Amino acid sequence: MKLFLDTANVAHVAEIASWGILDGVTTNPTLVAKEGKDFQKTVLEMCKLVPNVSAQVTATDAAGMRKQADEYAGWHKHVVVKVPMTTEGLKTLTYCKKKGIRTNTTLVFSVNQAILAAKAGASIISPFIGRLDDAGQDGMELIAEIMRAWENYDFETEVLVASTRHPRHIAEAAQLGAHICTIPYDVFVKLPLHPLTESGLDRFMKDWESIKKK
Ligand code: E4P
Repeated sequence: MKLFLDTANVAHVAEIASWGILDGVTTNPTLVAKEGKDFQKTVLEMCKLVPNVSAQVTATDAAGMRKQADEYAGWHKHVVVKVPMTTEGLKTLTYCKKKGIRTNTTLVFSVNQAILAAKAGASIISPFIGRLDDAGQDGMELIAEIMRAWENYDFETEVLVASTRHPRHIAEAAQLGAHICTIPYDVFVKLPLHPLTESGLDRFMKDWESIKKK
């Protein structure tokens, strides 16, 4: 399972990448606006740290999306062009597939959208589970349905569990065989922690100190 960090904060990417387990980053216009830094510079800095950096197009028509897809893909080979799940987005995915540009389809909320994006040649689809939970639906059930559908066909498209909100989401996504999880920084830093690890290590250290005193 690949683990991505959901952020536009380069320092956070550097920190998690230093653990040696980070496979990529997903940015979106909201995250970029939050950091207030230059978009291209941010993406390029991240590309030095990880092999996959999703950069989202902001045009809403296919011609504009295609132009941005070509531009972003030219920045660095680690760029994955993020395209919204619309009919214009589907046209853009088809274009990118033909040109060998890697894509991530964002704002996926149904199995049918997932199938359309896969047929259009998306490298990755991003179902947003937290936002479904927020709307009173079961986001993880959507992942289960998509993974079941994927078992019936030979789609090469990877399923990325997006809009994760807590560590349990990542464990559940892994049970379902999702290919990737993107995780916000404040959730990511909780993943290595367990109170029994902490108390166990504390005990080992105290016992080791007591030997030295004898
Ligand atoms: C995915 O690529 C998105 O950036 C992200 O997961 C959105 O999550 P949110 O619902 O927490 O904004």
